[in-house]
Amino acid sequence: MGKALDGVRILDFTHVQSGPTCTQLLAWFGADVIKVERPGTGDITRGQLRDIPNVDSLYFTMLNHNKRSITIDSKHPKGKEVLEDLVRVCDVLVENFAPGALDRMGLTWARIQQLNPRMIMASVKGFGPGPYEDCKVYENVAQCAGGAASTTGFDDGPPLVTGAQIGDSGTGLHLALGIVTALYQRNATGRGQKVLAAMQDGVLNLCRVKLRDQQRLAHGVLKEYPQYPHGEFGDAVPRAANASGGGQPGSILKCKGWETDPNAYIYFITQAPVWKEICKVIGREGWITDPDYATPDVRLPRLKEIFATIEQWTMTKTKFEAMEILNQHDIPCGPILSMKELAVEPALRKTGTVVEVDHPTRGKYLTVGNPIKLSDSATEVTASPLLGAHTDEILRDVLRFDDKRVAELQASGALGTAGA
Ligand code: COA
Repeated sequence: MGKALDGVRILDFTHVQSGPTCTQLLAWFGADVIKVERPGTGDITRGQLRDIPNVDSLYFTMLNHNKRSITIDSKHPKGKEVLEDLVRVCDVLVENFAPGALDRMGLTWARIQQLNPRMIMASVKGFGPGPYEDCKVYENVAQCAGGAASTTGFDDGPPLVTGAQIGDSGTGLHLALGIVTALYQRNATGRGQKVLAAMQDGVLNLCRVKLRDQQRLAHGVLKEYPQYPHGEFGDAVPRAANASGGGQPGSILKCKGWETDPNAYIYFITQAPVWKEICKVIGREGWITDPDYATPDVRLPRLKEIFATIEQWTMTKTKFEAMEILNQHDIPCGPILSMKELAVEPALRKTGTVVEVDHPTRGKYLTVGNPIKLSDSATEVTASPLLGAHTDEILRDVLRFDDKRVAELQASGALGTAGA
């Protein structure tokens, strides 16, 4: 079976998380991803959060599957020449350096267009043009600057960041979409273009519903928020704790075993079309016709009491028992699943969303596979490359360098092998 991006060659100049997530997805869709790394150390994440001495970290391996690695000192004159040669033969250059770093290597947009007018140059930056455009940014900075932190957490607590890497992996996803869109447009125009995904923009895009609520706030209080009816609303969208972000109220409720198990909880949505079913399941049939509970509007000021009553029922069941019963009645709900539970979930293993990969020095480990399934482009997850494992192969097969040229380069130190 062919792959969706067969024939697309990516010059992957990414590091840490945001850029690598993007190029990993493209690799899973069939692109040939050539990861350029600094000789000696490579992507800094190879050595970060290590669990096994002298072995590439899970941080690195889980973000760099299905790629090839070449080491090039991009500040060495000969290294620059190799980079330029790669620009000539690749379709897309992806980078997420701090602002200005690529220009300082000599790879300005003007130079790239000179070398290859069909080149698509895709960048992740912390911020788009504006007062912060020169700033370096990591995940949690983006979560804070993109509106996620101010709207996450409890009303009486500080802003909170979320474990989902919406700043890094979220922006990588945005960038991947920009790249395939630019590739599609190139079919018609023959020209490359620049693609920018700023982390602040990506997070704000994912927080779209909160900007919606900011504007609703000008017309009255937000009745589905836990602050209603007794709490205070200021002039900015408050933190909504575990309230649902949509039109159907929801909450996290305790289940049997919550006293000792930090994840014995279920998310419960009081979807209006199944209100009758909810009342029957929890034994409160009276609420079906009671004018104080019968319609979504009259329930809004009573949500706290309603969820406390439902919780009396969920506390008598495990989260899985509650899930089974509620689903028989089409009541939307979801157990709070821990990473320990997800790692052994058979359905996720079957679909390839969680896969076991064999790595040459680490051995077997679990990773998250391609979450996007294409019926005509299957994903096989392969191990991340060891540092520089494909340097020779890329010089010979992609750049068509002969033995003499390869030897000269090795001796120059541009590949980190001076004197070899
Ligand atoms: N050979 C030689 N030098 C190399 C190289 C190579 N193969 N690859 C990178 N470098 C150099 C760069 O040229 C740069 O040098 P310069 O500053 O002297 O010009 C240097 O390495 C550092 O790059 P930088 O991107 O500034 O790394 P950093 O570790 O200081 O900062 C980030 C890391 C993530 C904060 C920064 O890259 C950033 O803000 N990126 C954009 C936003 C982003 O993607 N953030 C999320 C990361 S998950």
